[in-house]
Amino acid sequence: QNEQTPQEHTLDNSLALLKDGYDFIFKRRREMDTEIFRTRLLGQPAICMGGKDAAELFYDTTKFKRSGAIPKRIQKSLFGVDAIQTLDGDAHRHRKMLFMSLMSRERLDAFAELLREEWEAAARRWEKLDEIELFGESQELLHRAACRWSGVPIDEKTVRQKADDMGDMVEAFGAVGPRHAAGRRARRRTEEWLEGFILDLRAGEFKVPEDTAAYAMAFHRDLQNRELDARMAAIELINIVRPIVAIGRYVVFGAIALHEHPQYREKLAADEGKYRQWFVQETRRFYPFTPFLGASVIHDFQWKGHEFEEGTMVLLDIYGTTHDPKLWENPDVFRPERFEHWDGGPFDLIPQGGGGYDGHRCAGEWLTIDAMRVGLEFLAKRLDYEVPEQDLGLSLSRMPALPESRFKMRNIGLKN
Ligand code: HEM
Repeated sequence: QNEQTPQEHTLDNSLALLKDGYDFIFKRRREMDTEIFRTRLLGQPAICMGGKDAAELFYDTTKFKRSGAIPKRIQKSLFGVDAIQTLDGDAHRHRKMLFMSLMSRERLDAFAELLREEWEAAARRWEKLDEIELFGESQELLHRAACRWSGVPIDEKTVRQKADDMGDMVEAFGAVGPRHAAGRRARRRTEEWLEGFILDLRAGEFKVPEDTAAYAMAFHRDLQNRELDARMAAIELINIVRPIVAIGRYVVFGAIALHEHPQYREKLAADEGKYRQWFVQETRRFYPFTPFLGASVIHDFQWKGHEFEEGTMVLLDIYGTTHDPKLWENPDVFRPERFEHWDGGPFDLIPQGGGGYDGHRCAGEWLTIDAMRVGLEFLAKRLDYEVPEQDLGLSLSRMPALPESRFKMRNIGLKN
């Protein structure tokens, strides 16, 4: 083995990973003053790396593949088994074009419009209540907008349960025990529901517009000109609705930022597009969501003198890269204005992955940014509310991060 790569001398670090959470890789990178080190995780050798150069390397598809790199427990909760996240090469490119075809400017604007309607409708309900929890409420309104946009029917009796199921799949990823088990149950229920829906669409018993995700997944043809297996079509439809619901977490982070930095409220409410954009980017950079990503080495190679052996698991540090002092001045300070001079590079602001959208970078990044702009504008401009005393601290060892109180709001009123 290569002498140059710092090595952690430990039997296995899986438990430390759960304990250190978002800081697992970054803490060791700081301690060893390195962009890369070796350790053992899940009983195998692993290479952990972070920073801009490491991100660029990680997205080189001649060196890394995704198949076999994503643990089954993550597929059975967060992603769905054998879905787009696990594909490589032509099969991945073809599937990715399907997802990106849903993200035209016109369709994104249509989503933003639906989302504004859902915020208004939700706020009218909130006005009648003493107190709400923004996390669950924003997940529900995002779920409603996601279903309407995707062509998925909404049943008023089950809509909250289904929104919670989408959220629970995300809640499961960094958990062991009950929180993980709840995510698996939520996934099974949701896959069964949407598999039935896909079969109804194919049988012509239900019709949806052709520009919706439901239509796209139901009638997509793979490279062999076959329809997706109905279960797989359901899984990929969930890969649209679930992450839209997950934007509720970023809504909460944005609300915390607004609460802790009230000087931005007027800037966000005024029609200052640039502030909304900077604030959204800083929220995505600053708050912990995706901790790291995994891939596996296709064949032996060397990089900056470090050996990468075929089959080795490699983790790219997402949280640490978005808090790397080499890339961000005072990374632990929330300062939207830093984006005034950001060059828009594909490998530094990587909360939703890096590189280009023909690679594995998040298919929903534009939609996420739009949805956060809509949400922050609504909070700053349309809504009066009080934030009662509560613990809004975020623990880096809880993956995914969430404040214990889920952001309580009181005395809510719509402004004129
Ligand atoms: C992939 C984060 C929202 C759809 C990813 C990846 C990350 C990510 C880290 C993996 C990138 C990689 O493997 O290199 C997030 C976060 C979101 C979000 C933090 C905020 C809620 C969305 C939305 C959608 C979406 C709203 C769809 C409407 C996808 C899909 C992939 C993906 C389909 C798989 C792409 C591929 O493997 O080619 N996301 N995402 N995501 N995301 Fe998102």
